[in-house]
Amino acid sequence: MARKPIIVGNWKMNKTPREAEEFMKGIEQVLTGNEAADYGVGAPFVDLDVCVKNAKNLIIAAENCNEKDSGAYTGEVSVPMLKEVGITYCIIGHSERRTYYAETDAHCAAKAKRLLADNIIPILCIGETEAQYDAGETADVIKSQLAGSLEGLTAEEVAKMVIAYEPIWAIGTGKSADETTAENCCKLVRDTVKGLYDEATGEAVRIQYGGSVKPTNIKSYMACPDIDGALIGGASLKVDSFKEIIDATK
Ligand code: PGA
Repeated sequence: MARKPIIVGNWKMNKTPREAEEFMKGIEQVLTGNEAADYGVGAPFVDLDVCVKNAKNLIIAAENCNEKDSGAYTGEVSVPMLKEVGITYCIIGHSERRTYYAETDAHCAAKAKRLLADNIIPILCIGETEAQYDAGETADVIKSQLAGSLEGLTAEEVAKMVIAYEPIWAIGTGKSADETTAENCCKLVRDTVKGLYDEATGEAVRIQYGGSVKPTNIKSYMACPDIDGALIGGASLKVDSFKEIIDATK
């Protein structure tokens, strides 16, 4: 079965609810009648409600969640809370969360399990640092992050997921991976999933490339056989540049 491409913006810690509402009004006009791919944005928690209320075609993703349902975890947001707001996707394990907030592969596995139990699709981020890239450790990092972050998940669950391969040296640097590197790494992600599960699961999982994706390079990534879309930070913040990306993938 053909995989439907999925393009998701990641706003990170940007946009107040009012700014989020303005963006939604601008972008929704562009999306009407465009079914070439699934398009979405990951938004800060306080923006999610206004985004969902203004979304007609756009997927709204949270940027994080906690794996527990409730309790004494100050500052955290649970999956039932996201569910009630109408969230259908959630980014987990972004390198910024792994680096600044000590998120581990084990956290990712627990979050993915909990999200899938409520039919929220995890967008699991993995990727190597610049030092690991320079040391030739990229393949080992990809394999070990996948093994750890998918632990305890069934083939059926993994088949529904999105995995974003994001080399950390390419995030926010303008130094995007060339398409051969991106394709090879995304293929390795797919082959690793096939090895951990089976052929059908590897063929079903959608894999994104992320790291300095722009209107000018999105097409070359989308042309790669194992790249099913992109996770986009900086270029998703303005309606105009996100619109250019959408137009390039129509
Ligand atoms: P970038 O961010 O597009 O600004 O490089 C990508 C990401 O962090 O998901």
